[in-house]
Amino acid sequence: MIALAKPVEQVPAGSLATLRRMAADCRACPLWRHATQTVFGRGPEHAAAMLIGEQPGAQEDLAGEPFVGPAGQLLDRALAEAGLDRRTLYLTNTVKHFKYETRGKVRLHKRVNATEQAACRQWLAAELARVQPRVAVGLGAMAAQTLFGKDFRIGAERGQWRELGPQTRGLATWHPSAVLRTPREARRREAYAELVTDLREVAAVLAALRDAEGAAR
Ligand code: URA
Repeated sequence: MIALAKPVEQVPAGSLATLRRMAADCRACPLWRHATQTVFGRGPEHAAAMLIGEQPGAQEDLAGEPFVGPAGQLLDRALAEAGLDRRTLYLTNTVKHFKYETRGKVRLHKRVNATEQAACRQWLAAELARVQPRVAVGLGAMAAQTLFGKDFRIGAERGQWRELGPQTRGLATWHPSAVLRTPREARRREAYAELVTDLREVAAVLAALRDAEGAAR
């Protein structure tokens, strides 16, 4: 069992298709009212690695898929550099609805609050219970604190492995949006390189697991 830092009382159970259908009707917080749809996770039912972001953005809200906008494009580039194939990974978010405020015709991302995060934890817990990844990666502070607790500091502790369950380890790294938002170019390049370094760690652990499983057969 993979436990989140704050336990979830009732974890919904079922296949990913069932969970996706259940989450589509979720009314546990008010975010569903203004969002286009629930953006549930995507990827193989038993992916070896799960990447967890924060909350869907405007493009994800329209597409119904995580990480398809600018942050997703940067993530794709970093994954490719690290030797990870997105199609083999399960990608999801800590919160499954887009939260925004409207300025004219533009929908501007608004950070979800603690109550909305708490209401949505059941779905991440359900995805972890179903997929049972060997590696979980928190992208950014929100996901990292959901996995490792509110004292987790992404700046000081990114890239460090922690046990998340008997068969699962986790680490946190920069959120691709945080990399994109870094104002100074030199620091932005550095943060991107750190993201790739952490993802290479993930690729190395996955390769070692595959080798160990191959040798045991
Ligand atoms: N940022 C996230 O945290 N998740 C997405 O799906 C897109 C942007």
